[in-house]
Amino acid sequence: MAKKIQIAIDGPAGAGKSTIAKIVAEELGFTYIDTGAMYRAVTYKAMKENIGLSDEKSLEKMLMNTSIVLKPSPNGQLVFLDGEDVSQQIRSNEVTANVSEVAAHPIIREILVAKQQELAANGGIVMDGRDIGTHVLKDAELKIFMSASVEERAKRRFIDNEKRGIPSSIESLKEEIAKRDKLDSEREASPLIQAEDAIYLDTTHLNIEEAANEILKLANEIMG
Ligand code: DC
Repeated sequence: MAKKIQIAIDGPAGAGKSTIAKIVAEELGFTYIDTGAMYRAVTYKAMKENIGLSDEKSLEKMLMNTSIVLKPSPNGQLVFLDGEDVSQQIRSNEVTANVSEVAAHPIIREILVAKQQELAANGGIVMDGRDIGTHVLKDAELKIFMSASVEERAKRRFIDNEKRGIPSSIESLKEEIAKRDKLDSEREASPLIQAEDAIYLDTTHLNIEEAANEILKLANEIMG
């Protein structure tokens, strides 16, 4: 039986991480975990409950009384917040615009990272996020840092939004992506940086299948 390794995929918004990670997990029979969804679920609940997004103490208190469960499904990972399926709601423009602020709080990261490490403990996992290779799964056998030009990432988000029926424009998406990149890369707690032992994968000129095959090739080399 193939070795059940941990695969960490990090990179900025819109690089194709989740789409590609999902395919890699499926091909290998591994579990896919989208850690961004956890930060989004916390943000969604805080906004719904009118908790100040800069109020770390209140956010912590809220999170101690929150259940976030990720369930794989044929249509991708479903996210249950306190028992309710919020997979759609956490992708709204409002949540997207505010999630970086919530994800910057060290205590929120600490709680969610512990949960992520628990989920990955037995291997056979493909986990995507911003700090997986540098922090969450420091010993992952394969680490990928995936990126693409801001222009290309905005285009992909636009097409994705169209499919979901969410109105947007390429120009505003470009601005939003650049802003989020900056916040995620410059924050104090676990900023978005490439792990020293991560392999850089530029997907600007790769389609989904090509990028997934690149990772699968590397994974199969490791698993022998
Ligand atoms: O991948 P995404 O767009 O769904 O991520 C949402 C936000 O969560 C993003 O702005 C950065 C943050 N995030 C993080 O700080 N650490 C992670 N491991 C995953 C996401």
